[in-house]
Amino acid sequence: MMEKIKKTSEFLKEKGFINPEVAIILGTGMSELAKIIEVKAKLSYKDIPDFPISTVESHAGELIYGELAGKRVIAMAGRFHFYEGYDFQTITFPVRVMLYLGAKLLIVSNAAGGVNPLFKAGEIMLITDHINFLPGNPLRGKNLDQLGPRFPDGFEVYPPKYQEIAEEAALEVKIPLRKGVYLAIQGPNLETGAEYRMIRVLGADAVGMSTVPEALVAKHMNIPVVGFSVITDMGLPDHMEPVSFEYVVNNAKKAEENLKKLITRFLEKVTL
Ligand code: HPA
Repeated sequence: MMEKIKKTSEFLKEKGFINPEVAIILGTGMSELAKIIEVKAKLSYKDIPDFPISTVESHAGELIYGELAGKRVIAMAGRFHFYEGYDFQTITFPVRVMLYLGAKLLIVSNAAGGVNPLFKAGEIMLITDHINFLPGNPLRGKNLDQLGPRFPDGFEVYPPKYQEIAEEAALEVKIPLRKGVYLAIQGPNLETGAEYRMIRVLGADAVGMSTVPEALVAKHMNIPVVGFSVITDMGLPDHMEPVSFEYVVNNAKKAEENLKKLITRFLEKVTL
């Protein structure tokens, strides 16, 4: 694994992906942000050695390097999920590569179901913490000592220092920002009413099918994570309604403009 990470990083450096400061993962229906990056290098996942290939239509499947809000960024337009059939090491391989290339901060975004009854579809939630409810962990197996410790702790995976900057950014661009705990579940089905109730009882505010594996490899490498969940549908056990994939993607698309503004302002403000 270490050899693969080094080899792919070298390959990307040769292609111009040099010294990124911030790594960004764009979730379901959120490629809009990618369009405002001043692109210096771009590759399709299929042209990058050892990268998996995205199977979800709403994910572009491109690695982009360039400038955004005065920062050198490397961005995944399209990520990988457990439900697609990948194992957790494969899912997180591109993230490890982006961080190995030198990114000092990881920004993740995702589409999520809201289980906090005060939330509304279309809103954005800043992730304060997570619960790993996925059936596995990318840190399983022989530890990659060159990247981080065998037993990383769970302290401030999403450091408050960066949460504060995100909240200030949201105020400045006048976008309401919720805060809460993200729980990752394997999917691909959305939850039953009973499951949404359970997830709420477990202490979560939103539920989705990604992000936690990526945050875990970042924590392993001692890289702070900033997470944004777009609430695309509400999981209210006593008010269950049919939810289509189109509904989820449409709501993600509606929030995209806000997310773009928010992340841009965040990048302008953050110092690394
Ligand atoms: N549950 C799980 N994952 C999701 C949801 C949901 O309701 N919405 C978007 N991703």
